[in-house]
Amino acid sequence: MKNLNIGMIGYGFMGRAHSNAYRRVNNFFPLEYRPVLKAACGRDLPKVRAFAETWGYESVETDWRKLIERKDIDAIDICTPNNTHKEIALAAAKAGKMILCEKPLSMNTAEGEEMCRAVEAAAGGKGVANMVWYNYRRVPAVTLAKQLIDQGRLGKIFHFRAKFLQDWTISADLPQGGAALWRLDVNAAGSGVTGDLLAHCIDTAIWLNGSIAKVTAMTETFIKERQHTLTGKVEKVGIDDACAFLARFSNGSMATFESTRYARGHKAEYTFEINGEHASIKWDLHDLHRMDYFDHKDESTLRGWRSIHVTDGDHPYMKHWWVPGLQIGYEHAFVHQVADFLQGLADGKPAGPTFRDALETQRVSDAVLDSARSGVWETIGEQK
Ligand SMILES: NC(=O)c1ccc[n+]([C@@H]2O[C@H](COP(=O)([O-])OP(=O)(O)OC[C@H]3O[C@@H](n4cnc5c(N)ncnc54)[C@H](O)[C@@H]3O)[C@@H](O)[C@H]2O)c1
Repeated sequence: MKNLNIGMIGYGFMGRAHSNAYRRVNNFFPLEYRPVLKAACGRDLPKVRAFAETWGYESVETDWRKLIERKDIDAIDICTPNNTHKEIALAAAKAGKMILCEKPLSMNTAEGEEMCRAVEAAAGGKGVANMVWYNYRRVPAVTLAKQLIDQGRLGKIFHFRAKFLQDWTISADLPQGGAALWRLDVNAAGSGVTGDLLAHCIDTAIWLNGSIAKVTAMTETFIKERQHTLTGKVEKVGIDDACAFLARFSNGSMATFESTRYARGHKAEYTFEINGEHASIKWDLHDLHRMDYFDHKDESTLRGWRSIHVTDGDHPYMKHWWVPGLQIGYEHAFVHQVADFLQGLADGKPAGPTFRDALETQRVSDAVLDSARSGVWETIGEQK
């Protein structure tokens, strides 16, 4: 087995989700590579030490530049707020490290393009392995949807409908900025629900149904000013609290996307529905191990929606887990992503989404925000 020494930057939500995945992956997936939790990095020494102890990291750093300089680190995992992704990724690429970067890839398309060029030109032009953690692709029910679409079972796809609803920012007393609340600060997050939540929906949509050609969008910032945690002052809110957009895929399908953090009662309601000529698919993150499927080719008297419990050995990824009928959860999507990344290294076939794949989501997100400002349809066009 070959060791792959991981240098983890950030010890929050995603730092934990990824560390869990690195620790679990070799217990369940037969792989040539074994991730080694070599070093964890965060600015607060006692906190990063406590994190390293909990998850079994061998060492700690308080400056990500030092981590990147270390000769004993093979791969840098970026689990920090969005405004840090580019700088860390450019330095890591320069040092010839592999990079696993959290989503969204960057603050905007221009940054994302720079990051793509850096990883592709790194290591004397050979490039370095790179991936972005759009983890929902690896929920077995979502992967199954991809397989059914690729098999042509839906036929021509007419509609794609996605939403991602939350309700945690409704209080006007909630400050913006700083630890835990950086998502409300446009300078740290780049955008609001568009980059944070809709980016997931866009990535899944492109993966399942191909490129998006044009969009027209509406955004709203319901609470215009909030106290900033770092300055203590009441400052203008620059993020979008809600976003709804229409899209046209390159294959002609119509789509609607909606996201908000002001949908009282909804915690992480990510759902999508796809309607094709022969069949339809529905999926809901709150019930992530199920996929609803309607097939018009079924015998007419028995035709109806079936709710498939995606836990059988022949369902994607499931043979590696328990026995049929026993479901897995949110964290397993990250284990699957690490497994695919490591398998990709062994095969020399990069696991997606690569930086370049994720750049496409960035381009759509930017077009959505541009359209919300301009009020007109924005065309996405081919990547240069
Ligand atoms: N794939 C997903 O489903 C998913 C879910 C949540 C977050 N994310 C993404 O993951 C990234 C991190 O989000 P999170 O929810 O884990 O945030 P978080 O606030 O829980 O954690 C961020 C971590 O980054 C650290 N940090 C901030 N600036 C730093 C710096 N300059 N140097 C070193 N450490 C620094 C913080 O101390 C903290 O440990 C974001 O890009 C976010 O969009 C993705």
